[in-house]
Amino acid sequence: MKNHYKNKIHLEPPQGLINDPNGLSYFNGEYYVFHQWNRFSCNHTYKEWGLFKSKDLLTWEHKGSAILPDSQIDSHGVYSGSAVVAEDKLRIFYTGNTKSKFGRKSYQCLVESEDGQTFIKKSSFETPNNLTEHHRDPKVFYFNNTWHMLIGSQNLNDRGTIALYTSDNLEEWHYQGIFFESPKLEQMCECPDLIDFGEQQVLLACPQKRNVFEDTAISSYSGYYIGKIVNQSFQSFTDFSSVDDGFDFYAPQTFRDPKGRCLMWAWMSRMSEQEEQACPTKMFGYMHCLTMPREVVLENGVLLQKPLEEFLNQRRTLEIDYSNWFIFEQKEDVLLFEVDFFETATKFQMELAEGNVTLTYRNNQLSLKRQSWLDNQMQAKLIKIKEIKKLQAFIDQSSLEIFINNGEKVMSLRYFPKTPNKVHQFNCDTNHKATLSKIEIGEENG
Ligand code: FRU
Repeated sequence: MKNHYKNKIHLEPPQGLINDPNGLSYFNGEYYVFHQWNRFSCNHTYKEWGLFKSKDLLTWEHKGSAILPDSQIDSHGVYSGSAVVAEDKLRIFYTGNTKSKFGRKSYQCLVESEDGQTFIKKSSFETPNNLTEHHRDPKVFYFNNTWHMLIGSQNLNDRGTIALYTSDNLEEWHYQGIFFESPKLEQMCECPDLIDFGEQQVLLACPQKRNVFEDTAISSYSGYYIGKIVNQSFQSFTDFSSVDDGFDFYAPQTFRDPKGRCLMWAWMSRMSEQEEQACPTKMFGYMHCLTMPREVVLENGVLLQKPLEEFLNQRRTLEIDYSNWFIFEQKEDVLLFEVDFFETATKFQMELAEGNVTLTYRNNQLSLKRQSWLDNQMQAKLIKIKEIKKLQAFIDQSSLEIFINNGEKVMSLRYFPKTPNKVHQFNCDTNHKATLSKIEIGEENG
């Protein structure tokens, strides 16, 4: 049976299950996207790092396994982490996860590579006494002439927190205490990240509501604060906002590319265990994907996530339409559907894949619905938006990313239409210009 769910511009594993993007970096002329990977089966029982490489951010090659859980301090998983390039070496930091009859124990591990092919495990350190062993996902960045490492943590009262370490040489790390704490971080905080915009910094965090007795995640999402690092801790100026308002987005990671842009990828899934069991790609031996890369900018105090110019440059316009009702068909291509509103849109409706997904705007509310592949019920995500000026929907074979007002809001989701050829439609009374393009990517990814 042909797999009509295979995405073209969303990175998918050759087999097995992918989760968090890890070790984002640019090394020896190539972009590196490592990732959490169970290469053996479509479940979470095994974790190693796999690796994708690209020269242009458009075509990617999967290089197989990079870091394996083959030592005592990572016996139960090479968990998430980050990478930096220093002194011509790729320095990678990950969490070694171990489990025994005494419980869980985490180690923060350093790995080095000189050629991007051989990865050598170097050193590690353990969790400080004032935090539990839910201590993981080191994010390393250079700030104020020092290397900083944030770690997603839990304090002894089972509350989510973020720990800070610093280092002069990327090898010896000194615990500096709590970088940020808030009830918003729930019972555990995964995958912290920090973006430095000079005057201000943005802190990303993934709070988890956990069942602490059973050690299972109940619900989690990814959010951000805008604020400032002051005296080794983060002071937020804003409330905690979600990074993406769709169904499938978690564990985002960022890094600065050689052009100075802040690029972000995330894991494109928030599926429950039941949804994973029933995930339609499972029969083809793989599960999940990453989001497209986005450029993150801070403009007039507003965080924007923009589609990359590399992708926009690959637009081949198919049709321009000014009418109230536009119907178009999708075969194997990736489509980009863009709407520029000439006056403020008061309402519109978009129906994708014969109603498998709908996006409706009315009374300043944007409502995204998708049909569940579990029970065919419609699931909904709602956001309030005062004014919509622009809409951009990247429509891949089973992934959708919808950018509103140049990335002021983004909604990402997986969808699994029944038929390979899909009919989409857009309906709107307000004066607008709709542009349908296909995104031309040379080779297939993955
Ligand atoms: C987030 C996460 C991380 C962990 C990794 C394990 O999705 O739970 O906290 O390091 O996945 O795969």
